[in-house]
Amino acid sequence: MNRNAVAVIGGCGHVGLPLAAVNAASGRQTYIYDVNEQAIAQIERGEAPFLERGLEELLPEIVGNGTLRLSSHPRVLAEARFVVLVVGTPVDRYLNPDVDALFDALSPCVPHLRDGQTLVLRSTVYPGLSRKIQDYLDGRGLDVDVAFCPERVAQGYAIEEIRELPQIISAFGPRGLEAAREFFEPLAPEVVVLEPLEAELAKLFTNAYRYIEFATVNQFYMIAQEHGADYHRIQQAIQHGYPRLRHLPGPGLAAGPCLLKDTMQLAAFYNHQFSLGHAALWINEGLPDFIVGKLKQRHDLSQRTVGILGLAFKAENDDKRDSLSYKLRKLLRLEARRTLCHDPYVRDPEILPLDKVIEESDILVIATPHREYRERAFPADKEIVDMWNCLSPRSESAPQ
Ligand SMILES: NC(=O)c1ccc[n+]([C@@H]2O[C@H](COP(=O)([O-])OP(=O)(O)OC[C@H]3O[C@@H](n4cnc5c(N)ncnc54)[C@H](O)[C@@H]3O)[C@@H](O)[C@H]2O)c1
Repeated sequence: MNRNAVAVIGGCGHVGLPLAAVNAASGRQTYIYDVNEQAIAQIERGEAPFLERGLEELLPEIVGNGTLRLSSHPRVLAEARFVVLVVGTPVDRYLNPDVDALFDALSPCVPHLRDGQTLVLRSTVYPGLSRKIQDYLDGRGLDVDVAFCPERVAQGYAIEEIRELPQIISAFGPRGLEAAREFFEPLAPEVVVLEPLEAELAKLFTNAYRYIEFATVNQFYMIAQEHGADYHRIQQAIQHGYPRLRHLPGPGLAAGPCLLKDTMQLAAFYNHQFSLGHAALWINEGLPDFIVGKLKQRHDLSQRTVGILGLAFKAENDDKRDSLSYKLRKLLRLEARRTLCHDPYVRDPEILPLDKVIEESDILVIATPHREYRERAFPADKEIVDMWNCLSPRSESAPQ
């Protein structure tokens, strides 16, 4: 075992790959074990399988010089002192955490783990799961320390933020904690120590807070719209020279693979009594319905073509996982004569060229505030729904 080497289980994913790349770029021998052979082949060619700032530049060098090696077999785990587990941790269709996912991923790895290793849990987990994983490994006679060290970076900015944000670390004993410190100190500017349960909750609180924050402004937006007031003018006014509201986000579709799921993990942990979290879900998931409802008040949609601009869940990203643009599309398909869509980054067979979508649509809904839309001069005869206010100073067509 190499005392400094790292292996990342799920290392081809959105969280695993940037971490593996930053490790390899710091000079540490890094291995990726992943079941996605297509992604492995792509990364081995030095190509990033998804958009992540700075990744495309790092990969050719670290793959080329062998600092980053990839495998679809877990035997590579035996080489590493630090094993990072970062596979997805979904909620099921009833919004309950699927706690089996981590054990399913871990069990074929167990024969390749070695005494003295540290298993860094990087997936977001249901509180208490780190303890269960430590017990699971102890029960198999392995002398492996589990350290829960959550990822808190913004997707698309991971390469920078891993190096810029303080890293929360936790473990079940001083040896595991020391190893977690040793793992992260060369990468992050600072480590912050918590107990494992505290660290698990810290991650869920971070995402749930963000989700609730978006819901707050989304509800303000809906209240203003409902009463014919321009929400964006109100937000500008209340933020102007007023430090306590400086960080208020703008309204917009709040989705993606983490915020809702983590809010629901917290709700499940709190016996489904997390009323703020559930209210945030109703509001955020209800925004597409609100938009379609307002359009229906103004138009006979059965006679209109609606263009959806943006399918990714966030700007300048190609990730469509759990994007509310798809819910919007589903709703519009029930109402509109035709629904067209465009995204500059997402791969989707139904995407059409932007010019065609603009030309053939009566109404355009900016679902994702990609730069291409912000910089575009749209024809004056198109109605544009711009909940993000990304076309400002041109303001959204006022509800009638
Ligand atoms: N996406 C984010 O911005 C973000 C941020 C913080 C935390 N997280 C958390 O990180 C975790 C991973 O999220 P992600 O967005 O990277 O997911 P992802 O789907 O992009 O990546 C998961 C990777 O794991 C691989 N994988 C799946 N099962 C495997 C198995 N049994 N063995 C080996 N590899 C396997 C997949 O092929 C994939 O490459 C989740 O718990 C998520 O909540 C995500």
